[in-house]
Amino acid sequence: MSAWNRSSSLLPDAVDATGPPTRRPIRYMSPMSDFTDDDCDEDDVMSTTSFPPFSAGPSSASSHTTHEGGDASMRSASPAPSVWSMTSSLRRQAYRHEYGRGLNNYSDIYSLPADDEEYERLDKQHEMFKLIMGKYPPPFDQVMSDSVPGEPKACLDLGCGSGSWVMEVAREYPNSSCVAVDLVPMQSRTMPTNCRSEVDDINLGLEHFYGDFDVVHARLISSGIKDYHGLIEHISRVLRPGGLIDLMEFDFCGYDEHHKRIEPSVDQNIRAPWWPQWLAFLRDAAKNRGGAVDAATYIHDWIRQHRRFENVVYREFWIPSSPFASDPFWRRMGLCMREDILEFMRSGRPLLLGSGMPEALLDHIEQNAIRELMEARTPVYIRCQYVYATRKHPLPRA
Ligand SMILES: C[S@@+](CC[C@H](N)C(=O)[O-])C[C@H]1O[C@@H](n2cnc3c(N)ncnc32)[C@H](O)[C@@H]1O
Repeated sequence: MSAWNRSSSLLPDAVDATGPPTRRPIRYMSPMSDFTDDDCDEDDVMSTTSFPPFSAGPSSASSHTTHEGGDASMRSASPAPSVWSMTSSLRRQAYRHEYGRGLNNYSDIYSLPADDEEYERLDKQHEMFKLIMGKYPPPFDQVMSDSVPGEPKACLDLGCGSGSWVMEVAREYPNSSCVAVDLVPMQSRTMPTNCRSEVDDINLGLEHFYGDFDVVHARLISSGIKDYHGLIEHISRVLRPGGLIDLMEFDFCGYDEHHKRIEPSVDQNIRAPWWPQWLAFLRDAAKNRGGAVDAATYIHDWIRQHRRFENVVYREFWIPSSPFASDPFWRRMGLCMREDILEFMRSGRPLLLGSGMPEALLDHIEQNAIRELMEARTPVYIRCQYVYATRKHPLPRA
């Protein structure tokens, strides 16, 4: 139970909770390096005047996009024209500003920032994850390398954030084609030409990608996903036979030195340990918005029990949230994680305040959590749950 009444303030004004969900156009972009702000002539794109952003266009025909310099085409159910440039007006409309941070203007569920500060955090977090978990799961190289001439391998990153993961893939596998999906456009100006950014809400379905990819990767997107089990079903169809699903999530909980979950205070008497307490409030707020914050706990079972997956591997990583470990590697990771958490607490403010949490209460918990993390005496771990598996080849007919 949260210490504040949040139920009435959770639905943003702009959301029509009663209306049917509509498929909104997907925005396909050429690599961002192809344009600059100076190119942003608002008349050069048939965007806002012909179709309002993120609302259905006049045609229901599906669109095809062709990669630059390649002939691999991606199906899309988007009713809108498929190739778009980014203009400053589109950029403006992709974001809203709340409590001093830039958030996506698209999803009423995902409410962490999508601004430079958040992307810097994600970039650093990506480097930490590589040290702890390795860059790719073991089957990745084989799946991505076996190219048949004329059939480039294709990799999809769902909820790409800053794009650090998918851009590395695109650079390291230059013959592949990579697609990065998120609620806001990827902002990199050094996007490899074999990588494309699409703006879309994964919750609207992935039918337009069925059969198109050899790898589907998703990391830490659960708080923006309504039905994670359903997402795994979609991914099983998006993957080609032999393709790789690669998921990593965390459960928004803190764990003690015995890896036992630290339960938050259930009364008004909020007390130490403070960082897990803060996390529990964030988890509550994200859950109330419709995010599948429990997904980390179930992804292994869901994939293991799925008829289309085999070679399922589960790994979990316990990352210290401050440098309390005696082992030098984990002490260093604790330092990185603490830096990440301190920034994450700033990122969580719009979601918590927007959910009705009193600012004084938030400040109180935050200040205590910061002190606790800086003292690094309370062993609190974050649990990252990681699952990869391959899509079965069709079974031979009897
Ligand atoms: C915590 S960030 C992680 C980013 C990246 N996967 C990484 O590991 O660095 C979560 C990302 O998922 C995106 N996301 C969440 N829900 C989404 C949805 N329903 N559709 C598309 N993107 C979504 C968010 O916009 C955000 O960029």
